[in-house]
Formats: sequence, C-alpha cells, structure tokens
Amino acid sequence: MDGKIIVMDHPLIQHKLSLLRDEATNVKNFRELVSEIAMLMVYDATRDLPLSDKKVKTPCGIADCKQLAGRKLAFVPILRAGLGMVDGALSLVPAARIGHIGLYRDETTLTPVEYYCKLPKDIEERDVFILDPMLATGGSAVDAVTQIKLRNPRSITFLCIIAAPEGIEALHNSHPDVDIFCAGKDKCLNENGYIVPGLGDAGDRIFGTK
Ligand code: PRP
Ligand code: URA
Repeated sequence: MDGKIIVMDHPLIQHKLSLLRDEATNVKNFRELVSEIAMLMVYDATRDLPLSDKKVKTPCGIADCKQLAGRKLAFVPILRAGLGMVDGALSLVPAARIGHIGLYRDETTLTPVEYYCKLPKDIEERDVFILDPMLATGGSAVDAVTQIKLRNPRSITFLCIIAAPEGIEALHNSHPDVDIFCAGKDKCLNENGYIVPGLGDAGDRIFGTK
C-alpha cells in the first residue's frame, strides 16, 4: 500500500500558516497558531472515521442521526515540539489517549536520538495520529513510526505542519502504509537540515528557548 501526502489547503489553515512562518510572530501567538492549526488538521484528517446510525428523540420527533462507530484514537506527540499540537487535537477529540515519544535530532549527524517512549496500554485497539510540526529529513518520523508499530496499533497517520520533500520520501520509503497530512509542503532542506523556507526551529519558537 502506498502512503499518501495530503496538503491541507483549507483557507483558515493556509492563513494561519502564513502567520506562523513570519519571523516577527511572537512566542505566545506562535504557540496559539500551532494549536489552532493542529485542531483544523485533526478535523480534516478524521473525516473518514466510520459512523453508525442512531435514532435521537428531539422535542419534535425522532431524527435519524449518526455517531462515531466506537473507533478509539490516540495522539502521540514527538517531544518537544509535537506537544504544541496536543491541546488543539484534544479540543476536538477529548476522549483520545495521549502517548509520548521523546526524540531529538543530534545537531551534527541529524539522526534522531530517542530518550522516552510511553504509549497507551490499549494501543492495539487505537488509530494513532503522530503529531510533530516539522518533517525535515524524516529521521524522527521514521523512528517514531517504527517504535509505535512495535506495539501494533490499528493504524498510524502522521500529522505535521510543514513537510520537506526529503522527509516525505524517507517516511514513505520506510513506512508506505502511513499517510502524511501537512499544511505546507516546502522546497528543500538547508545544510543544517532546516526546512526552507519553513518557519525555523519549531520547538524553540513554541517554548521560547532561543
Ligand atoms: C524537530 C521537529 C522534529 C524533527 C524533524 O525536533 O520537531 O521532531 O526536528 O527533523 P527530522 O525530520 O530531520 O528528524 P528537534 O529534534 O529539533 O527537537 P525538539 O522538538 O526537542 O526541539
Ligand atoms: N526541526 C525544526 O524545528 N525545524 C526545521 O526546519 C527542521 C527540523
């Protein structure tokens, strides 16, 4: 099965992405924008969740309605920057469970170093959405998916705000069954492995650490 790359072209997402990229956007606004974009992305990325029929008694009669057909979700942010997407995602799916994967890129080799992994106990019953604002070389994403697959979730989807072609290719090559949703697909990486034009260091801009 070939993974898909879906660029979310909703006007609200695209407008907020422009604000997010702007180097003049301050930490508070950056954090809020990441959360809002994550919420809009989850809204769209969950459009294929199965529904079942339900009858609802209204004050005026019986309505033929739909309800989510019992699929359980888990959001798994990649630490640190993925944490910025959790509140937005949870605002739409408050019952979802949250796992955490701690990875950072070694600044010289650009390879991911794993330092933490805690996933929901019943992950085998859950559709997992990995959250990370940036898909650059793809090393972190490939590693995160590999770790999560060891626990046999029902499915894995990768949600990022900006994706580079290199990262998309790496993730699709290693995990062709994982669909990627992004708000923007950028040109390339620079010599330091940063996405160009990108938005800079997502973790530092969310947490104000630089
Ligand atoms: C960033 C980002 C991704 C990773 C992407 O995290 O949030 O996890 O880089 O790069 P890759 O596709 O080349 O692996 P970083 O390693 O800077 O850690 P942080 O979130 O703790 O700042
Ligand atoms: N991580 C980031 O935060 N930004 C990039 O451009 C690449 C990796």
